[in-house]
Amino acid sequence: MNVSGRPTRTIWPSTNGTAVEIIDQTRLPHVFATARLATLDDAAHAIRAMLVRGAPLIGATTAWGMWLALRDNASDTALADAHATLLATRPTAVNLAWALDRVRAHVSLLGPAARAAAARQLAIAICDEDVALNRSIGAAGLPLIQAIAARKKSGDRVNILTHCNAGWLATVDVGTATAPIYAAHDAGIPIHVWVDETRPRNQGASLTAWELLNHGVPHTVVVDNAGGHLMQRGHVDLVIVGTDRTTATGDVCNKIGTYLKALAAHDNGVPFYVAAPSPSIDWTLRDGLREIPIEERSAREVTHLTGRFADGSVATVALTPEGSAAANPAFDVTPARLVTGLITERGVAEASEAGLQRLFPDKKN
Ligand code: MRU
Repeated sequence: MNVSGRPTRTIWPSTNGTAVEIIDQTRLPHVFATARLATLDDAAHAIRAMLVRGAPLIGATTAWGMWLALRDNASDTALADAHATLLATRPTAVNLAWALDRVRAHVSLLGPAARAAAARQLAIAICDEDVALNRSIGAAGLPLIQAIAARKKSGDRVNILTHCNAGWLATVDVGTATAPIYAAHDAGIPIHVWVDETRPRNQGASLTAWELLNHGVPHTVVVDNAGGHLMQRGHVDLVIVGTDRTTATGDVCNKIGTYLKALAAHDNGVPFYVAAPSPSIDWTLRDGLREIPIEERSAREVTHLTGRFADGSVATVALTPEGSAAANPAFDVTPARLVTGLITERGVAEASEAGLQRLFPDKKN
């Protein structure tokens, strides 16, 4: 997508070929800054500290991290260590293991001297594939928005609610949940996006709003608790969210608070769609509630907030009384029965084992 008129991805090889560059998402929306990853530890830190985040981008970063590691040492032991180090960074998004296993399987067939170059080629391919998958999700989701627009009075906007950031910043480019939104906007359909702020890290308020603003998509940031009210009043036509891990049976694990939006959508007859590229589907799992590991992040993300003062300086301040405990489960699971459909790169699937199998017969476990 464009940043200040320049096509920009979230991750790219540096021009001199010695490192990887990323957008440092911890500094948005107040500062647009990039960071340089030159070692395995840099890549692991970027994922852990969420300079990069979002399931597809985490996957792409681990692929680049494997290249950085193998460039230094391509022995079997170093390969296993790099895989283990990156796998331990964040537990919920399955794209991370998907990309790591893919790189390991590819390079372990080769002798050590050929491994780094092969990992680099594969990292480039994984990034390009991610962009292509997301464009296909945009094409698959666009008719859902067109159908709603066709039922409206001419000129009335289609109101779409989204949670967290499943936009281009969460991927290499284009985004998953935002792909149909950008496709509709670019096709001239009047749309408006309700952006959940997404406490505690505020990916909606900081990242999704920044993206939509840059692309000129009309949007309004709301507190997480407003969604149910907006749906009751008929102000939401459609919900589209992303996913960190979807089971083979269609249960969806996504940013904490997604489940509550799905419940409110169900109660109000609002279609609830999940943009799910196949690398975020865990074909080995059948029961999302019991089987998906939920990341527990630092309580400090709940007790403190970062924002910008009028003079432009950015500061972190305390929000809760010193001494109050805080808990920070980062994801929740929405059961398949609450999901209207999964927007995949192969089309829209019913959120069920049969629905997914119809589109992905090659993925049978
Ligand atoms: O903790 P984050 O910011 O990595 O969580 C991101 C999300 O939950 C996204 O909705 C999900 O990864 C889908 S991104 C296309």
